[in-house]
Amino acid sequence: MQALGLDIGGTGIKGAPVDTESGQLLAERFRLRTPHPATPQAVAKTVAEVAAHFDWQGPIGCGFPAVIRGGIAHTAANVDAAWVGTDARTLFERATGCRCAIANDADVAGLAEMRFGAGQGRDGVVLVVTLGTGIGSALFAAGQLVPNTELGHIEIKGMEAEQWAADSARTREDLSWKKWAKRVDRFLQRMCDYFWPELIIVGGGVSKKHEKFLPLLTVDADVVPAQLRNEAGSVGAALAAAEGLY
Ligand code: BGC
Repeated sequence: MQALGLDIGGTGIKGAPVDTESGQLLAERFRLRTPHPATPQAVAKTVAEVAAHFDWQGPIGCGFPAVIRGGIAHTAANVDAAWVGTDARTLFERATGCRCAIANDADVAGLAEMRFGAGQGRDGVVLVVTLGTGIGSALFAAGQLVPNTELGHIEIKGMEAEQWAADSARTREDLSWKKWAKRVDRFLQRMCDYFWPELIIVGGGVSKKHEKFLPLLTVDADVVPAQLRNEAGSVGAALAAAEGLY
């Protein structure tokens, strides 16, 4: 089956048609800048432009950086506050004329990693963490996702973990890899204290540079970089659409 997988982020909206059996992109990804302000209407218009670029008529899956339940956005940590309470699924379906599935961005990236990447064949507890503007999380047990875990918002040292340990904190505070790795290490150790994952998969744009920080981690867990890198969002979104997960 084929679905258009869209990765909606703070800076770009990227999409590609995906073969959901193989996880392969069927065309080069197309990217448009996220409109500012990124209101629901403005984002829906951009989503429709990406779909139109592929002349798409089939199912569409979207990863979105918020808690999503039944197609409705419930939070807006790094996106426009107007998203809270928005029925994103209906909005995107009206804008594109296609059936749409919407899910949390880290959850869909996790689905892709479990099916086609670093989590293949892992049945125990697996935690996928995405390090970007925020920290996203996707928790799996026996291959099943527990959606919307939002673990980037736990408190560490009186702060939200993502304010302190996301990749955006590294660039904002101009931290060395060593200093930032210490923060990531502390966050992951907390994850281990809570969940005892047999595997932690680290994704997000910075996972391209995993050799700069993963070797510095001391956390007592098997920590590996994501394999699909920046394709995970689109591939996982397409999976969510194909399998009617949400
Ligand atoms: C949001 C999550 C999202 C993560 C990564 C967090 O701020 O609360 O929903 O998955 O950022 O984008």
